[in-house]
Amino acid sequence: MSAKELIDALRKELHQHNYNYYVLNQPTISDYEFDQKMHELENLEREHPEYADPNSPTQRVGSDLNQSFKQVPHKYPMLSLANTYNEGEVRDFYERVRSGLEGEDFDIVAEMKYDGLSISLTYVDGKLTQAVTRGDGVVGDDVTANVRTIRSIPLQLKDGSGYPHEFEIRGEILMPWTSFEALNAEREAKEEPLFANPRNAASGTLKSQKSELVAARKLDAYLYYLIVPEGATTQVTSGGMADLFGAPEEQSFTNDYHYEGLMQAKQWGFKISEGMKKCKTIDEIMDFISYWDTARKNLPVATDGIVLKVNSLRQQRHLGSTAKSPRWAIAYKFKAERECTRLNEVTYQVGRTGAITPVANMDPVQLAGTMVKRASLHNADIINELDLYIGDMVYVEKGGEIIPKVVGVDKSQRKQGMQKVEFITHCPECGAPLVRFEGEAAHYCPNDSGCPPQIKGCIEHYISRKAMNIDSLGPETVDDFYQRGLIHDVADLYQLTIAQVAGYNKNREKSSTNIVNAIRNSVNVPFERVVFAIGIRFVGETTAKLLARKFKSMDALRQATLEQLLDVDGVGQVIAESVMRYFADAKNLDIIDRLAAAGIQMQLSEEELADHTDKLAGQSIVISGVFEHYSRDEYKAMIEKNGGKNVGSISAKTSFVLAGDNMGPAKLEKAQKLGVKIVKEDEFLQMLA
Ligand code: IVH
Repeated sequence: MSAKELIDALRKELHQHNYNYYVLNQPTISDYEFDQKMHELENLEREHPEYADPNSPTQRVGSDLNQSFKQVPHKYPMLSLANTYNEGEVRDFYERVRSGLEGEDFDIVAEMKYDGLSISLTYVDGKLTQAVTRGDGVVGDDVTANVRTIRSIPLQLKDGSGYPHEFEIRGEILMPWTSFEALNAEREAKEEPLFANPRNAASGTLKSQKSELVAARKLDAYLYYLIVPEGATTQVTSGGMADLFGAPEEQSFTNDYHYEGLMQAKQWGFKISEGMKKCKTIDEIMDFISYWDTARKNLPVATDGIVLKVNSLRQQRHLGSTAKSPRWAIAYKFKAERECTRLNEVTYQVGRTGAITPVANMDPVQLAGTMVKRASLHNADIINELDLYIGDMVYVEKGGEIIPKVVGVDKSQRKQGMQKVEFITHCPECGAPLVRFEGEAAHYCPNDSGCPPQIKGCIEHYISRKAMNIDSLGPETVDDFYQRGLIHDVADLYQLTIAQVAGYNKNREKSSTNIVNAIRNSVNVPFERVVFAIGIRFVGETTAKLLARKFKSMDALRQATLEQLLDVDGVGQVIAESVMRYFADAKNLDIIDRLAAAGIQMQLSEEELADHTDKLAGQSIVISGVFEHYSRDEYKAMIEKNGGKNVGSISAKTSFVLAGDNMGPAKLEKAQKLGVKIVKEDEFLQMLA
């Protein structure tokens, strides 16, 4: 066997094992054997880079290279479904279909409604060539590199299984409950914000810039919608005369029915919905709904309803679609689960920004598959609206969110002498009187320099990746240093010695040296990230950049008047006042002075100053379409460097649209309607030249 033949054989074999494991859940070899074969293939591919193939099973591990997503127009728009919430509306749908089809016989396919994010996959000659998110339904993000890491999505379809040469298949990308819970447990340990539900986690993961991270997060996918272009053909090699002569036969491929189409796709290697059922009568549909309302709790992934679709594609075309959704399909959404239990106590958590979150502590109750004993009460207004008393029997609900909430009280069970829940007036961590800013629902502890969770939160923000990126420190080390009295604010970090960090533990010398070095290295972090890192309330990454570019140094920013701050495009009253408040506080000025003394960048560098112009000052620019010379991200950076602002959607305030090829039709129409100028790529580069 030649190296190429060996590589091909191994790829084919590993694709099959992947399918057995991730689609069928029936592995036929041990993990060890699988790894051995994978290593063998990796070695061969390393020796023969000329046979590299992005669809090789070795490519499932992803890469840690940063990518930006290309926007790709959908060949067929990705519509959504109309929602219904009760039996009556389902019956209405059934009747509408019946009368729309004028007495013709029809089947309705009932299937799970998966709660993830939709994806459109294109296959050419059995190979995955493109994966695009829904986006706005007309244009989506090309996330092919990330999708290749999802094991249940075939990179190569089964030979001779009869797939058409080219087709699209759509479905849902999901994070299984087990992966979701493991991920959140990991994030909790690192004190990172938790994902509210598997859908958010899946979406955050798929949009990640690093496919390596996507590979590690273990996503899954179910496919539910096959689109085969008219006149498609397929190669048939199994059986018949074709095999005798070794030449595959070409046949035309027809797909007339949704259900049967998906059953074929299953043969090609796709994971399709397990519980699909063809129904004739409304009673069958109702039985399906009531069965899955409970049975879905045992599924490995989140579902939020049932989708009903007319089976015949001819009938689907006959019924047609509205602008938003097809008339031949509908979604029935399950009701959120609700239980009644006793409220024992309300406790209060202090977040990193000083925001206070009230938490209901209740008798444990089984809800949507987990034992629940705590639920968020959000803020004082919600507590007042609920009119809560300690000892009340409360209703807790768990919708799509992982954190349950209290939605009501059974007042008939209230007894005399119970105590009304009053929101606290002082911080439970440091005792400071709480404040409430105008127009905000939350209470805050204002003692940001003396309240332990806030001090630690401030330092954690300072070291975080998008701020000073001191990655040898984490929440645990920060907590440890704080407990040991080594740090009280971010400037203290620069006074730490190796001996202090190591403490009594002599084995820690190497890691302590790393920590101290990493802290010292952060003096090279550019000024705009320093502005973000010092943690001025409401000043996020983007605002920090705007401020840094406008004022160019910390001194100038510190001297800025309210009017000058408001003059910065993108800075409103709330942000401007917050900046003023920050620099009016002597403790903050002291920190800034000590950071400056430690060598932190307190102004834009020469290169940054040279690189920036005011050519686009005050302009709001929308980027749309596919570009030839630079990526979207590069154009975004150019706009910002030249004083402009990149905004997401077109409005009357938009200065112009920077348009590449295939600009979305909806955007084009809107721009024309509002009379917003369209600037092509070359013209734009001319403007900046
Ligand atoms: S069919 C034209 N089938 O629900 C119909 N969608 O609200 C295309 N979804 O964007 C969609 N499970 O992300 C279909 N079995 C299923 C589904 C499903 C989940 C999602 C999908 C879609 C949304 C519509």
